[in-house]
Amino acid sequence: QELQMNLEQIEKGGYDHFMLKEIYEQPSVIKDTYRGRLNSAQGIIKMSGIEDNLEKFLNANRIIIIACGTSWHAGLVAEYIFEEFARINVEVEYASEFRYRNPIINSNDVVIAISQSGETADTMAAIKLAKEAGAFVFGVCNVVGSSISRESHAGAYTHAGPEIGVASTKAFTTQITVLTMIALRLAKAKGTLSHSDFHRYLLELELIPEKVKEALETNDIAEEIAATFKDVANCLYLGRGYNFPVALEGALKLKEISYIHAEGYPAAEMKHGPIALIDEHMPVIVVAPIQGHYDKIVSNIQEIKSRSGRIIAIVTKGDTEVRKLADYVIEIPETSDALSPLITTIPLQLLSYHIAVLRGCNVDQPRNLAKSVTVE
Ligand code: G6P
Repeated sequence: QELQMNLEQIEKGGYDHFMLKEIYEQPSVIKDTYRGRLNSAQGIIKMSGIEDNLEKFLNANRIIIIACGTSWHAGLVAEYIFEEFARINVEVEYASEFRYRNPIINSNDVVIAISQSGETADTMAAIKLAKEAGAFVFGVCNVVGSSISRESHAGAYTHAGPEIGVASTKAFTTQITVLTMIALRLAKAKGTLSHSDFHRYLLELELIPEKVKEALETNDIAEEIAATFKDVANCLYLGRGYNFPVALEGALKLKEISYIHAEGYPAAEMKHGPIALIDEHMPVIVVAPIQGHYDKIVSNIQEIKSRSGRIIAIVTKGDTEVRKLADYVIEIPETSDALSPLITTIPLQLLSYHIAVLRGCNVDQPRNLAKSVTVE
């Protein structure tokens, strides 16, 4: 028993929980994910699974992304990135809905299946369906040799290393890293990004690990905010554009490990429902980096403020506008709009982690949840 506990301590590398260790591993695993694949000096992105099948991607009518849970959120981020960079039509589907819907799939479709474990039953079933219909299936998995990686025609691994915490953290950011590289590679082949933009994004991707490191410095403020809000019954997460899926993921993290009811919403949709919930008891976490739809999000924040909502805002360092309105600001380093989910996600992970710890929850193994869902 004691030996078992000591072993676990060692595996956690000095952190109290696997989840925290995995959050802190993100600068290095994001680097592992692009290492050997991205060369900014030469202007190259090279992933063999893409190179070998480039024509299939370039001739695709559309890309259908299938996934579950956090991987589905990475798919939503990828939808925005693929459409913006490579001008390819993308649809993102819950694997469980896709497989039972009699979906229209044909041989010109490229299906990207995203799965940390590579064992999720619904995602696996959706792949089989897509293959039967003649689609080309590309897997983005973390676990090497997993069922989904074997069932796919080709793929690219994320190099996040083993993820033990049930709530996914480093798998999410490395999935986004891989998908961003694919979008950039396709953009280069199609000429949908200018040379200078393509090059700028390569350089910015290489700066992400340093910026994630900087974003991890929000740990103390996240802990402080967690202490204030740990006993709330509900939380609303808002974001726009690339950061709308980040709001969904932030809410999912909180639900999963702290059992606080949380909802993620596109900020502008707030007026179609959630605004009715806002009063002085409702914390609203707003993802509001300076790049993107900043003015729009500032006015969304004003709407919350005028209804006495309590505002926690994720802002770019040096922000002045949002600071005037928010109860708390968490500052993160600036990057371009398209890459910002890799940074804005970090404080949201930390916030849920600390809230769960303060509530005495089992962070690494939350009740009723499994790390991989291999049955329906
Ligand atoms: C479970 C896990 C989640 C994960 C989801 C999809 O619900 O608890 O963390 O996002 O499955 O798993 P996958 O391995 O396919 O990414």
